[in-house]
Amino acid sequence: MHRVLGSVLISSEQIQRRNAELGRQISADYAGGAVTIVAILKGSFLFLADMIRQISPEIPVEVDFMAVSSYGNGTTSTGTVRIEKDLEVTVAGRDIIVVEDIVDTGLTLYQVDRILAGRGARTIRVATLLEKPGNSKYERKIDYVGFQIPNAFVVGYGLDYAQRYRNLPDIRVLDEI
Ligand code: IMP
Repeated sequence: MHRVLGSVLISSEQIQRRNAELGRQISADYAGGAVTIVAILKGSFLFLADMIRQISPEIPVEVDFMAVSSYGNGTTSTGTVRIEKDLEVTVAGRDIIVVEDIVDTGLTLYQVDRILAGRGARTIRVATLLEKPGNSKYERKIDYVGFQIPNAFVVGYGLDYAQRYRNLPDIRVLDEI
């Protein structure tokens, strides 16, 4: 089996239009407050970079990064994640937005949520560029969703396959041939 780049699922223009909408929504929701963005590496880096530039300059925005890796075989609903890179910012008492590239089983998000709640975050919301609906094993409201996509493996705009394709401007399907 061999994997090759397939068709464009979401174009760079569609992504930028959606980023502007999400930025406006976040600006409205956090007007008068401040927000600490916790971006999950590596896949979220382009979404983060473009989306936060659409947040109103009136809102104080802090940005930090966390890298986690999953354990387990993906077929169990109770996996755990290991923190590969931890935050430097203070979480206690802050209003957090976790920024993800894609929510699939929801395990990564579930664990990050627990870590941040355990450190005393005041509120935790989630922004994800992509969501595969129906796949999540956890009940969790996703506050800001860029796009819901079918159950295919996608790459580009930060998302990789074996560390490749992150630089593509569009989201594309990776086909198996
Ligand atoms: P979850 O913990 O199952 O929700 O998976 C989240 C992580 O799996 C994402 O942050 C991605 O790194 C990776 N992932 C899941 N689906 C895809 C995909 O279609 N393309 C690239 N990475 C994916």
